[in-house]
Amino acid sequence: MTTLESNTVNLTLAQKPVTIGEMVVADYRKAEVFRKYGLDYCCGGKRPLEEVCQKKGLDPQPIQRELDELDLKPNTPLQDFEHWPLDTLSDYIVEHHHRYVADSLPMLYELTNKVARVHGERHPELVKIARHFDAVAQELQMHMLKEERVLFPYIQQMALAYRDGEALPVPAFGSVANPIQMMEAEHESAGGNLEEIRQLSSDYTPPMDACTSYQVLFAKLNEFEQDLHQHVHLENNILFPKAIALEKDKFAS
Ligand SMILES: [Fe+2]
Ligand SMILES: [Fe+2]
Repeated sequence: MTTLESNTVNLTLAQKPVTIGEMVVADYRKAEVFRKYGLDYCCGGKRPLEEVCQKKGLDPQPIQRELDELDLKPNTPLQDFEHWPLDTLSDYIVEHHHRYVADSLPMLYELTNKVARVHGERHPELVKIARHFDAVAQELQMHMLKEERVLFPYIQQMALAYRDGEALPVPAFGSVANPIQMMEAEHESAGGNLEEIRQLSSDYTPPMDACTSYQVLFAKLNEFEQDLHQHVHLENNILFPKAIALEKDKFAS
């Protein structure tokens, strides 16, 4: 990464974290604390702890204590996404998270529908889970296509132009903030469907009479949700705000 690009990072993300999304950007271990309390740090991450706790009817004090305890322990992040160049980060998201989603969707689609067909009479919530998952699958397929064909290539073009000191043509969508706003709304929608699935499945707890397919389905859905949280976190809390800041600071006319 060039010094200039480091400066852009400092401009956008070096302030003291205020929202829960910013807290996770600064220290990814905090995602686990938010996950434990069912707090959404990715789609709904642009709000302070007090506000998200109030919405969930939770006392923020014990959560704040756990977060403070983490500040006292040394942190060795596995991957320092916050300081990655934007083109490297968008490549990583595609290769790591988009590929995971694309690989998982057909299997999960088949499994949700199969388990709903076999056990739906005894457990009607399975039919609703399959319906929510169908919606997530359709939304995510279109969503990733838009990111891979339109938004990410533009962010990559922007990162390159900045490194090479070149001008950037104005894109058909005007400002990068426009497709980003659309992507964030789609994240909200997918996150909402997965939240419904989590509630319908009692936090992915299979009932006593669950067969192996049923148990595998809940374990896989849980894994899928966790991957999507990290995926959306990288986009909403790091890639997108940095792309908007880069455009504003370096390319705005
Ligand atoms: Fe994505
Ligand atoms: Fe996305």
